[in-house]
Amino acid sequence: MRFDAVAWPRFDEREVAAVAAVVRSGKWWRNEGQWVGRFEERFGELEGAAHVIGVTNGTQALELALLAGAAGPGEGVILPALTFYSTLSSVQRHGAVPVVADVDAESWNLALPLPPDRADGPPVTAVMPVHFGGMPVDMDRLASDARARGLAVVQDAAHGPGIKVRGRALAAFDGVVCYSFQHAKLLPGGEGGAVAFHDEETFRRSLLLQNCGRMPGDNRYLHEVVSSNFRMPELTGALLCCQLDRFRPLAGERAKSAQFLRERLAEIEGLTLQRVPDFDCEVSNYLIQARLSYPGADANARDRLVQSLQRCGVPVNRVYPPLFELEAYWRAPEPGVSPEELRQRCPNAVEIGATGFSLHHRVLLSPFDDQVRLVGLVEEALRSVRRAGT
Ligand SMILES: Cc1ncc(COP(=O)(O)O)c(C=O)c1O
Repeated sequence: MRFDAVAWPRFDEREVAAVAAVVRSGKWWRNEGQWVGRFEERFGELEGAAHVIGVTNGTQALELALLAGAAGPGEGVILPALTFYSTLSSVQRHGAVPVVADVDAESWNLALPLPPDRADGPPVTAVMPVHFGGMPVDMDRLASDARARGLAVVQDAAHGPGIKVRGRALAAFDGVVCYSFQHAKLLPGGEGGAVAFHDEETFRRSLLLQNCGRMPGDNRYLHEVVSSNFRMPELTGALLCCQLDRFRPLAGERAKSAQFLRERLAEIEGLTLQRVPDFDCEVSNYLIQARLSYPGADANARDRLVQSLQRCGVPVNRVYPPLFELEAYWRAPEPGVSPEELRQRCPNAVEIGATGFSLHHRVLLSPFDDQVRLVGLVEEALRSVRRAGT
């Protein structure tokens, strides 16, 4: 039995015409064209942000947020152990200290309350929650925890345009929010990213920072601060404006399918799904995630399940390994910690990292019959993995 995954990204002649219009205009640079500006305005409306800056990619969105003052070099930044490497690399490249914390066993998001400062650890000044797979972090709880400790909040919403927490979009909360528009994401531009702000001062500083340290419009080479080039190209802005038109209808399609798929997968014995939170929220449905939870389930069994589904054409992968299992973590780690100490600190991340898998949102855009077939494929693959043992 095969699964025919639908193509992603979705596009038609509208994207072709928009890109051609940029090319013909000769204005390929955001400081001359209109598309990136138009995208920033419309994306701000979607995400409840007073200000948005479009950037080159999600990794640099996180780097820009840190540069804009969320944390200084040598200061600690709390981040979840289960996330894509860029959450960590932005901290490392900034010279700040990654303080990796465990995830919640059910939501797979940063466990709350936040871990207390270690007496011999770095002074912690910021926290980077990640809405893992599009599952909303309880931003009310996190923000009040962060506020009580004076921590800056940088949300990694690479998986998350469209998330709402108790009716509020992510950019309505304290701090800044970073997005990715990489090819596989919910709003794809090939590459691309954005930072959303509601604080005017941080936004103004970031305008300088994203433009090699000088104000957009300056033509006298008046570089004011040390920075780099984070600017989004006009071609990306044009693609993203078209993709924004598709965003809400596709999010509605995904939400409908996700409810069905989550319910059906949850009925399979031996699987435990990443849980949708109990509080009032909207999930972005970037990934449908589950882990093997039968006695004796391990990384070998999970890998065999993933490989078997991939052979059938299912867009599925292992979940990210915990950050401290990456060689790159140990190039700039939290000083004084050992691998064993981090494993003990983050038991849920270790368990989910070994046994979890993620289905890409393309499965939610497939016809209903294909989703029924997908449930059958997962059931069959799991049965055969369990039969074979480890
Ligand atoms: C959670 C998370 N943060 C950050 C990024 C980085 O985004 P980009 O690939 O656009 O640099 C990704 C990309 O996959 C991600 O999944």
